[in-house]
Amino acid sequence: MNMAQLSNPTLEVRNLERWLGEGDGRTHILRGLNFSLERGKTYSVTGPSGCGKSTLLYLLGLLDTPDRGEIILDGRRVDNASEAERTRLRGEIIGFVFQFHFLLVEFTALENVMLPMLKLKRWSEQECRQRALRLLNDVGLGAKTQRMANQLSGGGATKGCCGQSSGQ
Ligand SMILES: Nc1ncnc2c1ncn2[C@@H]1O[C@H](COP(=O)(O)OP(=O)(O)OP(=O)(O)O)[C@@H](O)[C@H]1O
Ligand SMILES: [Mg+2]
Repeated sequence: MNMAQLSNPTLEVRNLERWLGEGDGRTHILRGLNFSLERGKTYSVTGPSGCGKSTLLYLLGLLDTPDRGEIILDGRRVDNASEAERTRLRGEIIGFVFQFHFLLVEFTALENVMLPMLKLKRWSEQECRQRALRLLNDVGLGAKTQRMANQLSGGGATKGCCGQSSGQ
């Protein structure tokens, strides 16, 4: 598929560049990426360790900003949006599952899933609870909704929520 020819791409990247590191260690990680992704399709980013997959995903997730190039979401440029707007987009339309998770240890699994929904103030607490229960059930955690976050398995990062894992 020629991804540059999609008529209504939901996510588009143009000439994306990212440098990382300081001084002599400064490295050109992403050297001008161009692609378009279509709504409703699933894509994967593959490549050897250190090739820049996480660097790219952090940019697409609006957790980092590119040194050059553009990120266009539903036809709107977002890489240079204000921090407040990027925060809103992250909270409302971007889902990001970190390899090293960032669950809040003072809260249960259910509360961790409910919190971002409550913050949007779009649904009642009861609706958020129902939705969170459904989502946890969908991923096989229906029996563990009341477990504190640090009592859940972490897929390799099981020592609380701050266990180290290689890569992201
Ligand atoms: N903060 C940083 N400062 C300097 N270099 C960095 C920094 N973060 C990452 N790098 C380097 O950038 C390159 C890309 O890293 P990145 O984490 O994106 O790779 P990756 O493809 O996700 O690797 P993996 O498969 O191991 O997760 C690597 O060579 C890494 O060493
Ligand atoms: Mg990575």
